[in-house]
Amino acid sequence: MSIPVVTVGDSRDDLVGGLERLHGPVSVVRRCSELAELLAACQSGLARAAVVAAGSEELTASLVDRLSAVGVVVVALSDNPEETARLWTIGVATEARGVDAAALAARISAAVAKLSGPVARPGLTATDGVQGGGYATDSMEPGHATRTSGGHATASRGPTGKGRIIAVWGPAGAPGRTLVAANIAGELAAEGQSVLLVDADSYGASVAALLGLLDEAAGLAQACRLADQGLLDADALLRIATPVATKAGTFRVLTGITRADRWTELRAAALTLVLERAREVADVTVIDTGFCLEADEELSFDTGAPRRNAATLKSLESADTVFAVGAADSIGVPRLVRGLAELQAAVPQAAPQVVLNKVRAAAVGRSPERQLRAAWERYGPAASLSAFLPSDPAASDAALLAGALLLESAPESELRRAIAKLACAPAQRKADSFGFSSTARRLAKG
Ligand SMILES: Nc1ncnc2c1ncn2[C@@H]1O[C@H](COP(=O)(O)OP(=O)(O)OP(=O)(O)O)[C@@H](O)[C@H]1O
Ligand SMILES: [Mg+2]
Repeated sequence: MSIPVVTVGDSRDDLVGGLERLHGPVSVVRRCSELAELLAACQSGLARAAVVAAGSEELTASLVDRLSAVGVVVVALSDNPEETARLWTIGVATEARGVDAAALAARISAAVAKLSGPVARPGLTATDGVQGGGYATDSMEPGHATRTSGGHATASRGPTGKGRIIAVWGPAGAPGRTLVAANIAGELAAEGQSVLLVDADSYGASVAALLGLLDEAAGLAQACRLADQGLLDADALLRIATPVATKAGTFRVLTGITRADRWTELRAAALTLVLERAREVADVTVIDTGFCLEADEELSFDTGAPRRNAATLKSLESADTVFAVGAADSIGVPRLVRGLAELQAAVPQAAPQVVLNKVRAAAVGRSPERQLRAAWERYGPAASLSAFLPSDPAASDAALLAGALLLESAPESELRRAIAKLACAPAQRKADSFGFSSTARRLAKG
């Protein structure tokens, strides 16, 4: 069966006519005058492939993601090497503008076969087939596309960076996600690891405030914007990420959105690319996520619409380690138990390490850890308890007041020690081979 194709823009020669004359593997079902029309045509189920013969500069990762969500691959024609590289980054296959019809048809067929195969593409959830960064990986060097006879590239990606991703999640009720995430980042930096802290809480970003940063830049939104345009390389990411120096070590921060209504700036496809880059520039990326795991698409018929909880879900899907933080009291524990069931349904591969925070006798009775363990057994959630973090209002308030981490403002506190133990447990540690990537080292020196 021939592959239905929609096109936009005119090529140098009558390429569309050439494709039609092939009477072969592809058939042009509509010529569109602009990308919006092409998107609408694809969303109506008309096509399996879209050929962008001119104007590829308007293609973004989000648009490509929307097209791949409805089973459409994009092939763009460009003779500009920079544009070709950008297109490759956002998942678009390319051919030269002078390509002949037969070669273009072959490229389209290959891209469609690839999309139908067992590989993932930007924006796909890990539950769709691939865990982790979510990109197709071929046997090639990072940053190099597969070369074709015409010298052009398919939309394949190289291996991902080696850095690990830790996501800190927890249900509603301010159980301490931000405090735990920021202090884990600080402890890992103090250990000598290169660390990127990302505020992906699309409901109540607060990493900048906790660290006392006068930041209005919404670094994560900036990074997502560049990633969407296919322009976020390692240098750009490191330029956007604010350095935070502590007595014990320096780490970088991508601050969160400054108003909750800016959540549309954190789209899944772009955030996936940001996290992919993060793995390249940092040994460990620590993400402070939002609480809500609802899958927006179940609430909306528009599957292409931006998703309110995309940042949290994508962070959890991308993470190698997930900490689920709950408040150790009679409201926080049942909430966490319910939240873990939701997490299991939304991101089955997350395998969270459960952390009870603000542990205090006043809320649960004498020997609070024993009481909490007994309560946990009664609720019977699948995940077992991994760690208890003591309630320490004096230490956490002193840190907040100073805009500092516990390792600076309360280094001897039990709370600091417990978080350091959590952060520096062998499972969280990287092998020595990790080190700063060369780009990161260069920028750190500069
Ligand atoms: N172990 C602790 N002992 C005492 N206070 C704590 C502890 N952990 C966190 N807190 C305090 O609880 C409050 C909420 O913490 P935090 O902002 O980290 O929670 P969150 O889960 O990120 O909340 P939000 O839903 O607002 O994002 C803060 O005032 C913080 O200082
Ligand atoms: Mg928070």
